[in-house]
This record gives sequence, structure tokens and C-alpha cells, in this order.
Amino acid sequence: MNVDLAIRSRRSSKQFSGVALPRTEVDALLELASWAPTHRMTQPWRFTCLDQAALGRLATWLPQQADIVAFPDPAKGAAKLAKLTIMLSGLGAMVVVTWVRATDPVVDLEDHAAASAAVQNLLLAATARGLGSFWSTNQALAHHRTLAHLGCGPDEACLGAIWLGTATAPAATPDRLPIAERRRWCDG
Ligand SMILES: Cc1cc2nc3c(=O)[nH]c(=O)nc-3n(C[C@H](O)[C@H](O)[C@H](O)COP(=O)(O)O)c2cc1C
Repeated sequence: MNVDLAIRSRRSSKQFSGVALPRTEVDALLELASWAPTHRMTQPWRFTCLDQAALGRLATWLPQQADIVAFPDPAKGAAKLAKLTIMLSGLGAMVVVTWVRATDPVVDLEDHAAASAAVQNLLLAATARGLGSFWSTNQALAHHRTLAHLGCGPDEACLGAIWLGTATAPAATPDRLPIAERRRWCDG
């Protein structure tokens, strides 16, 4: 698949078949992700990978964590988490993407941008291989205690959880605005 087609055909998929994604394939996607631009070569991204066994353990662990279940809305938390754990059971694998916080705010902003570029590489590489993907900032997955439980360092912040697998339902294609509405040429 050429790059233009991968960019256009990447879609957020939320329904997956339950087919496992081998660790070697996840590693191949992450190796491509790591070719994102990175100022000062800080390579700030960290990838915490969950295969189906780890996803199963997470789906058992999450509902036992009262503070995570109750966050941010105690009234809706349990139902939302039940829906989430069903969705997780369909994934081939999941990658939690964090970046290592820099003390200098300028560097930190650059590092956040670099890690975001790595996520897009990951999504496009998955698309090019016919895989479904979804960038989720689900609050239970991004909760600081979930991150610690999964082994993320205390100096890391979360960009999201990337769901990967075989998509079962074609994802809708949300319209993009004509680019003329979002770009300006500097002619002055
Ligand atoms: C940083 C980030 C976080 C996102 N988090 C969520 C999320 O938690 N839930 C969700 O439904 N979509 C999430 N999305 C996906 C967007 O909803 C999706 O990209 C958008 O609807 C456009 O659809 P497309 O990805 O198929 O082009 C997120 C996207 C980004 C960039």
C-alpha cells in the first residue's frame, strides 16, 4: 500500500474479531513507529504492549479497582467499564503509548509531538498491513494507576492506548473539511 492510500484509508475501528496479533507483528509496527522525527534524538516514546493474555488479565483487574471504576463518574463507571472489557476481549493486541516527561517545557512539548508522530506511524503501518486500529484515550486505560499497574514509569505521561487487531465492521469515514478552510498561504 502506498503512503497516500494508507493515510486515506486509516480509520478508527472499534469492533475486532478476537484474532490474536503475534508479538513479532506488534514489534514490527513499533520499529516503524520509532522512525518518527525526534528533536535532539530524545526518542521519548515508550510502548507498553499487551498481548491477549495480558488484555485478559487487565479486563479482570480493572473492575476490581474501585477508584478507577468510579473515575470520572461514579454513576456510569461500572457500565462503561463492562463495555470496555468486552471490547478489549476482541483485540489482537494493545499498545499503551507514553512519553517520558521532560523538565524543560519546550522539550516536553516537542517530545509530546514526537511521540504523537510515532503513534501516527504505528496506525499507518497497521493500516498498510490490513489491520484495524483505534487511538483511545479511555480514562480507565489512561488512569495513572492503570499505567503503573502495566509497568509504565512515574516519569511517563499517556498519549493513549492503541487498539490493534482484525477489524470486523467497516469503520465510518468522518468527513474532513476542504483543506482550503484550514490552510493559509503567506502572500504578504
Ligand atoms: C488523541 C486522540 C484520542 C482519541 N481518543 C478517542 C476516544 O477515547 N474515543 C473515541 O471514540 N475516539 C477517540 N479518538 C479517535 C477519534 O474519534 C477519531 O480519530 C475521529 O473520529 C476521526 O475518525 P478516523 O480516525 O476514522 O478518521 C481519538 C483520537 C485522537 C487523535
